[in-house]
This record gives sequence, C-alpha cells and structure tokens, in this order.
Amino acid sequence: MPGIGILELKNDEFINNVISRLSGMKTEFISLGELTIPSGLKYDVIVDRISSGNPFLTEIVKKLSLGGSYVINNPFSATNKIIDTFLCSALNIPHPKTMVLPFIDEQWDMGDTVREPDLERVGKEIGFPCVLKPYDGYAWDNVFFVNTMNELKNLYDSLKTRHVLLVQEKIEHNDYYRAFCINKKEVLLVKHKPRPRCQSEYLLSDLKEIESHIDKISKWSNRLNSSLDVDFNAMEWAIDLDGKPFIIDSFNEIPEIQRNVIPHDYYEWILDKFSAMVREKAEKGERNRTIFSL
Ligand SMILES: Nc1ncnc2c1ncn2[C@@H]1O[C@H](COP(=O)(O)OP(=O)(O)O)[C@@H](O)[C@H]1O
Ligand SMILES: [Mg+2]
Repeated sequence: MPGIGILELKNDEFINNVISRLSGMKTEFISLGELTIPSGLKYDVIVDRISSGNPFLTEIVKKLSLGGSYVINNPFSATNKIIDTFLCSALNIPHPKTMVLPFIDEQWDMGDTVREPDLERVGKEIGFPCVLKPYDGYAWDNVFFVNTMNELKNLYDSLKTRHVLLVQEKIEHNDYYRAFCINKKEVLLVKHKPRPRCQSEYLLSDLKEIESHIDKISKWSNRLNSSLDVDFNAMEWAIDLDGKPFIIDSFNEIPEIQRNVIPHDYYEWILDKFSAMVREKAEKGERNRTIFSL
C-alpha cells in the first residue's frame, strides 16, 4: 500500500480534508527527531506544507526527495521573484518591466563587485509610479508603491542592507485574479482582492470579463510551473486598463487554502485536484526532478 507522508500541522483543515480523499492509501503525519544519513525513511509521496519555515526540515525534505520520495512541491525548485521574472521573459509570458537592485552588505566588503545602483537610470527605465518589493517576499511584506525619485532613493537606502529588491513597472488594473495551479495542468482562476497580511478576499465570478484570456492565462501558468517544476502554486494575474493580462506574482507555493475564505466550489475544486495529484504521483512512482546525478 503506497505511503503518503504529511509535513503539516495535525489540526490543519485542508490537509485533513486531503487525507480523507486518499482512501485506500496509508497516510501519516511525519514527526522527525535525530536522523542517520542515509536513513531508511521513505514515503512514496510527501506533501510538504511546512518545511520552508525550518532549516532542518528544509534540508531533510531534499534528502527524502533524493531518497526516492516524490515531494510536493519539489524542494529543489529554485523559484523566487527574480528567477520567475527571468523565466517569464524567456517564455514570452507578459510581466511588468523589472529591474533588480543590489544588496549592500555592511559586514562583508565586496570591493567594486557590487556597487551602488544608478537610481536615476532605474527611475527613467521603469517610470513612476513603480513598485519596490523584495525578491523573496510574501504577504506584502515590504511591498511599496513609489511615486517619486526621492521616495525611491529613501526606500532603497532604508532596505538595501536587508533585502534584494526589485523595481517593477506598476500595472494599473481594475481586475486581479489568483490562478490556483495543480499538477502543471489544472488551473482555476479566482477573482481576487489582494490585501496585505492574509486579508485578501476571493470572489465568486463567472469570469465573463476575461473569457477571452482564460486559455492563455492557463497555458502561461502551466508553462511557468512546468519550467519551475512546481506542482502546487497560486499565481497572481492583473488585467491592465487596456484589458491585457500581466503576471504579478508567481511565488506562492504554499498557498493558504482556508475553507472559510475560499468560496465553497473553489475550495472543493482545489481539494479534488490536489488529492487526485497526490494519488497519481504515488501510483505512478514518480520522482522529483533534481540537479544531481545519482
Ligand atoms: N508590478 C505591479 N503592478 C501592480 N501591482 C503590483 C505589482 N507588484 C505588486 N503589486 C501589488 O502588490 C501586491 C503584493 O505584491 P506581490 O508581488 O504579490 O508580493 P507578495 O509576494 O508579498 O504577495 C500584489 O498583490 C499587487 O496587488
Ligand atoms: Mg502576492
């Protein structure tokens, strides 16, 4: 009987709902103390919703993946907002014009290797208003809408020793969508009101206003997730004032799935497709893509 290991808190409702859809499969919450390397520990599939918060777990899931467990999401996927933007440009996926600003390390002298950026040039290339945000942020942490060169300079000065920052063209929009992406082939577009710190809202919508974009957005989302090798992601798309879609955020690999926040039918869709993916990976004996040759 295939074994599914779960890395998530035992009282998480979504994961308990997933487990109840995996009848016939052996599932267990993983609990780890000291480990020998290599250890005999092996699951067919590991559903990982928590390892990114603990460096011990972050490395152990890589070890388990190399040992043959299929981990969702692949712990070797190297996604962040810089890589994602680069891939969007390589894959012709519409995205805001973006520049990266250097991290200025106060502890470690980099000589001329890393120098102060020419923010006047950045302001000219990107224009105002623009968006300043960390390459690895989430939940709107340190996301700023910037209107003037002075603001950009002050913000950069206050953040440059703590974050690698992106400056992005601000896409003016009325409509914003979250694309729940599963198994690199299933996409559910949900109208979304993004707000800081998990205050966002999901709205029921027949998607009439973006009917002509649904196939394209789905295709682009699947293509980016395939390139990144990410099985579960929530990608954010804005529709600009001319009606053109732009990807804003493709770095939500542990999307919060809460029954009381997501409309019922959408919650059930995510639950169905996610559980079916776990079952499929276990039955096929798939392995994660890795950068190592074994
Ligand atoms: N380039 C942009 N144009 C317009 N709005 C943006 C842009 N970048 C970010 N935003 C707004 O800021 C919010 C947070 O930015 P996002 O990139 O999603 O960071 P986080 O990973 O912290 O959620 C987005 O949901 C969107 O509303
Ligand atoms: Mg976001």
